[in-house]
Amino acid sequence: MGLPYFEIHGGNRLRGRTRVSGAKNAALPIMAAALLCEGEVILRDVPRVSDVHFLAELLAKLGLEVEWRADGSLRLCVRDEMNCKAEYDIVRKMRASICVLGPLLAKRRQAQVSMPGGCAIGDRPIDIHLRAFKSLGAEIELVSGDIIARAKRLRGREMFLGGPFGSTVLGTGNAMMAATLAEGTTVIEMAACEPEVVDLANFLNRCGASITGQGTPRIVVEGVRQLRGCEHTIIPDRIEAGTLMVAAAITNGEVTLDNCRLDHLMAFVDRLSAIGVNVEKGKDNGVVVSSARRLEPVDVTTQPFPGFPTDLQAQIMSLLCLADGNSVITEKIFPDRFMHVAELARMGAQLRKEGSTVIVEGVKRLVGAPVMASDLRASAALVLAGLAARGVTKVNRIYHLDRGYVKFEERLKALGADIERKIGEDSGGD
Ligand code: EPU
Repeated sequence: MGLPYFEIHGGNRLRGRTRVSGAKNAALPIMAAALLCEGEVILRDVPRVSDVHFLAELLAKLGLEVEWRADGSLRLCVRDEMNCKAEYDIVRKMRASICVLGPLLAKRRQAQVSMPGGCAIGDRPIDIHLRAFKSLGAEIELVSGDIIARAKRLRGREMFLGGPFGSTVLGTGNAMMAATLAEGTTVIEMAACEPEVVDLANFLNRCGASITGQGTPRIVVEGVRQLRGCEHTIIPDRIEAGTLMVAAAITNGEVTLDNCRLDHLMAFVDRLSAIGVNVEKGKDNGVVVSSARRLEPVDVTTQPFPGFPTDLQAQIMSLLCLADGNSVITEKIFPDRFMHVAELARMGAQLRKEGSTVIVEGVKRLVGAPVMASDLRASAALVLAGLAARGVTKVNRIYHLDRGYVKFEERLKALGADIERKIGEDSGGD
């Protein structure tokens, strides 16, 4: 059977209004946190993307009832705590499966999770996650590619979770989840400050945890005996919002975004403004994005929150390909996250990669071409480039895009894009 791809006829200006989905990267650890809870967890605004479905499948194998309810919410409830093993066949599909480790260890006192391998954006080690569990008193072994973690009891400790590239988002989440049921106080220094970590902490507190300092580099967790389920609405997806902002800007259009948190996108909006893209809060709370005809070149460096997000680096590169001059993009989180560079070059972009920096020489136009998606955000960047390019762009391997964007092509189409999902032979090689 053939694989799905997008066929995009570029050049249409996007106009209209769309609602930003709930954040995938907040939903995933919060779903995993249901492992810690007694009783029902009801989550609203969980995006129905394939990563969420993979995790739902894993949680069901770990003994949770998982049910999409008629009102669109997701209900999770632990019914059986026997199985503590996350198999390789799911972990290899989705690295975020690692966030079941902390909750399993805390609640069931043991966990076996297949060691995630590398992925298209780099090596992605999990040493800091394991360091956090060890400092809480867990014993960790690596057996036949599986991490086996055990602890008779977890004890709160002070821990430093910094790594070579700063803080770790899922590592902070994992440590926080494990610490909720530990005895005593855990202090996490160099905690990630990303809004998704804050959402997880707020969810856990609603379940009865005692966490303070979320959103700062010092998080304090007072262990409690038990967590009970609660209802929670997932925060809006800042990366989807940013991607849609670029879609408006790159097509010289005007798009209004509902459910968009500008306070989660300050560094990104700062760069867009410097490029000449207007981003304003409308009277009705919608965020209106429109762009000037001339795009200014700017320099961008990715950083942990509140800095410029690595998950929007590829998308802003597509936009800067059409700026009037040279831009410099530096990746400080995942130094090898540049799989989109060679594909954008196939569309006429002028890009020179030097280490973890790319020099983007703006061109007057991009031209449609068959290109190949390599990871989630690179796929989004290629779709954006296709929306602006002259002629037809075929984006292959869009299963990467489906991991994190809800009905992306349907929503772009509703805004006026000429984009179709088709099934065909994969014309990209390896
Ligand atoms: N790192 C280590 N050791 C660790 C953990 C991380 O050296 O034990 C390094 C990483 O290699 C990287 C840096 O620390 O250089 C930051 O990685 P982080 O741990 O923060 O990434 P993550 O938590 O695995 C989440 C998102 C990613 C996003 C990054 C950075 C989820 C499910 N994933 O990953 O999202 O790029 O934070 O913000 O939340 C995406 O959605 O496309 C995506 C890749």
